Amino acid sequence: MELKNFTADNITQAYLDAINGEQGRYLWRGEEVWTKEKAENWLEGVLSDPNQEIYAIYRGDTHIGNIKVAIDIKNRCCGYGRLMWKSGKGEGTEALRMMVNHVFNTFTNIDLITDMAASENIASIVSNLKAGMSILGFWRDKLYIGGKRMDGIPVGITRREWEKWQDKGSEVLERWEMNF
Ligand SMILES: CC(C)(COP(=O)(O)OP(=O)(O)OC[C@H]1O[C@@H](n2cnc3c(N)ncnc32)[C@H](O)[C@@H]1OP(=O)(O)O)[C@@H](O)C(=O)NCCC(=O)NCCS
Repeated sequence: MELKNFTADNITQAYLDAINGEQGRYLWRGEEVWTKEKAENWLEGVLSDPNQEIYAIYRGDTHIGNIKVAIDIKNRCCGYGRLMWKSGKGEGTEALRMMVNHVFNTFTNIDLITDMAASENIASIVSNLKAGMSILGFWRDKLYIGGKRMDGIPVGITRREWEKWQDKGSEVLERWEMNF
């Protein structure tokens, strides 16, 4: 798998179907339907913002998902969001690991990478944990998705944890899988 720069060519029908479909309801768009034009305007905003980066995730020549990061300079941390629509087992996790490595290696002043998953978004929570994130807390009724309130589960990894994960990742994962 490979992370490439996301360009306007990556706004395909497959991407629009994913973002407007069941998978996309966990993202920021809410109930809004995304047209190609809306997606292009949004992408322009992302690409012109020096604190945001967006990657297209490829398996070989096939574009299977996206991952976006937003740097918060003041708090020296970074948020992210992912959408996978053709992923096979483990690929969302692998994309996240690649993004975490890229961010910590590139932005040496970033100490924390963090996101908030909906409590019902099991694929997100599991893949975050498998990528080395920890659950940081619990935010009751934080999110409104598909017409209902859901709890928010903040997840994240600090630079120190990532450094340890580099050495001990598979060991930690084995322990975690035994307990899950
Ligand atoms: C979240 C998302 C990026 C994960 O990508 P993915 O390719 O499915 O991730 P992975 O296959 O690496 O990991 C998902 C894990 O969750 C597990 N899982 C999924 N649904 C599950 C369920 N209901 N119960 C238990 N485990 C579940 C999978 O089995 C897999 O674990 P495994 O590898 O041990 O089998 C993808 O589902 C997606 O794009 N969702 C819509 C957008 C979204 O939710 N983005 C995140 C917002 S916080």
